[in-house]
Amino acid sequence: MRSVNGSVAAITGAGSGIGRATAIALAKKGAALALSDISERGLAETVEQLPPGTHVTTRVVDVAKIEDVEAWAREVEHHFGRTSILMNIAGVGLYGQYKDYARADLEWIMGVNFWGPVNGAQAFLPMLEREPAANIVTISSLYGLIAPAGQTGYCASKFAVRGFYEALRHELRESSVSVTVVHPGGVATNIARTSRAAAKADTTYKAADTERFEKLLRMPPSKAADLIVRAVETNKKRLIVGVDAQIFQMLQRIFPSSYYGIIVKILPSADTVAIARERAKLAASEAAGSVRSTVGAA
Ligand SMILES: NC(=O)c1ccc[n+]([C@@H]2O[C@H](COP(=O)([O-])OP(=O)(O)OC[C@H]3O[C@@H](n4cnc5c(N)ncnc54)[C@H](O)[C@@H]3O)[C@@H](O)[C@H]2O)c1
Repeated sequence: MRSVNGSVAAITGAGSGIGRATAIALAKKGAALALSDISERGLAETVEQLPPGTHVTTRVVDVAKIEDVEAWAREVEHHFGRTSILMNIAGVGLYGQYKDYARADLEWIMGVNFWGPVNGAQAFLPMLEREPAANIVTISSLYGLIAPAGQTGYCASKFAVRGFYEALRHELRESSVSVTVVHPGGVATNIARTSRAAAKADTTYKAADTERFEKLLRMPPSKAADLIVRAVETNKKRLIVGVDAQIFQMLQRIFPSSYYGIIVKILPSADTVAIARERAKLAASEAAGSVRSTVGAA
């Protein structure tokens, strides 16, 4: 078991949700923190919640921009002299189906969710490799293991980041750097509410869909954070967070090509295709009704 006391942890996405909770959990165990996020306000709110006396720096960083991440790594090196843990946590969601996407939507989500963690590796690996024992933790998702409808962009980014970091872990197996890939199920954060609508998505039902999706996000971020910190302490290679994620990834392993049909039977609220079909039917019958009433009025 490895202690995180005395480590220096660089955390992206530290301004909200899992990133914030992980910062707090690490600080409670005596780690120094280099926090980054695209939201300055989010970072300030996180700092307010840290235990008194935490050694912490913050920087506004867009993880999709390598120049931002490299400037942050230089600042961290200058301030702390080292980094022993890199946590790639920043991430975003995209609302809509592939037919609703502009190419820029896919580029945007890949920029944050895939290139972000790759930029983390590029900027921080030289520092991590100088440590006698270091860790990289990257948050993929349950959707880096299963691929539901309505998640083409998100799944592409989360499968990609998993592939990149699993291969990197194998390349680093004789080094001092351990790699953990985390696959959370539903965690109660802002991710659904702040997800961006794809360019051509009909946003009429976005609020209702977000509310429905948020019912699946149940685990408190502090619990996810404790599991993540524990994974660092035990050098766990893959962490599946939550019973929901455990069950669905198991279904995928047993039924690799038909698991989605089973999932939507268990969880009809996840069947975005059926929901869209029913809405279209309803809209068509309402339109027909209004034509009939117009004709009746004439
Ligand atoms: N909440 C869940 O149910 C869940 C499930 C699986 C995976 N995840 C993943 O967990 C990670 C954390 O998400 P969360 O649920 O805490 O969401 P969140 O929205 O609460 O936090 C995400 C943070 O990332 C920051 N961010 C967004 N774009 C950024 C950018 N370009 N550069 C830097 N920071 C940026 C946001 O400002 C925010 O502070 C994400 O990678 C997400 O995909 C979440």
